[in-house]
Amino acid sequence: MNRRSIRHFTSAPIPEDTIDILEAAAQHAATSQYLNSWSAVRITDPSVQRQLAEIGRQPYIAEAPLLYVYIVDQHRNARIAAEQGIDVESESFTLNSSYIFSQSQNDAVLALHAMETAANALGLGCVILGSLLNDIDRLISILKLPPLTFPVLGLAIGEPDQSPERKPRLPHDMQFFQDTYPDDRQWASMAPALERFNDIVHRYYDLRDTSKPVASFSAQIARISTSPAPLHKCINHPAERQGFTPDR
Ligand SMILES: Cc1cc2nc3c(=O)[nH]c(=O)nc-3n(C[C@H](O)[C@H](O)[C@H](O)COP(=O)(O)O)c2cc1C
Repeated sequence: MNRRSIRHFTSAPIPEDTIDILEAAAQHAATSQYLNSWSAVRITDPSVQRQLAEIGRQPYIAEAPLLYVYIVDQHRNARIAAEQGIDVESESFTLNSSYIFSQSQNDAVLALHAMETAANALGLGCVILGSLLNDIDRLISILKLPPLTFPVLGLAIGEPDQSPERKPRLPHDMQFFQDTYPDDRQWASMAPALERFNDIVHRYYDLRDTSKPVASFSAQIARISTSPAPLHKCINHPAERQGFTPDR
């Protein structure tokens, strides 16, 4: 319940035995069809870490004592299948399908989240990094990702050097429904709860940084809903270049 993103870390290195525990926790996450469709690249080279911070345009990426990039990985399975005599170039090979791609993303996210939860349980702090996808092609090139792999998210871990307030969450009934999805009338009845939530979010940001007033939650959603997303225009194309087929 106390989980929140941590973006400032002390310089204390993470002991190798702690890293072993974190990696074991990730490996024990559930995995669709037991395909183990993910891998993680631990970044130990400071110059690579700086390049990732450039891509993410977030300096704290360079300062994280422990940094991983989680990837979709069907390259390993394709190699194993080929060793078993499967023709991985044939039409009947399906590990490059969009269905498997999305299951692999699920696997990668679950593993990353297991690592985040384990890190929090050990008193460490984490931030998940979607910003590494600002330049997917450069990331693929830096990490030397082969066909049938694809970056999903980064995870920065370290000893917290900040103690931010927990960020407010939506009113429970706007996110948990009973039996069916709410209809227009039910959504309309939630308007007062949303208004109260807007106030809460506004006050949260005010407390965090009075110099940077942030509009309500609704206004944030409206702004993001029309801002250009890097993935919008290109998510399919790099995945296709990595050997995944758009639809099968
Ligand atoms: C998929 C995903 C990508 C994210 N990417 C970033 C990121 O690139 N940089 C960052 O500072 N935080 C990132 N976050 C953290 C969110 O901003 C954060 O979880 C959200 O604002 C809620 O705050 P909390 O985690 O403190 O509760 C990401 C979170 C998720 C789930």
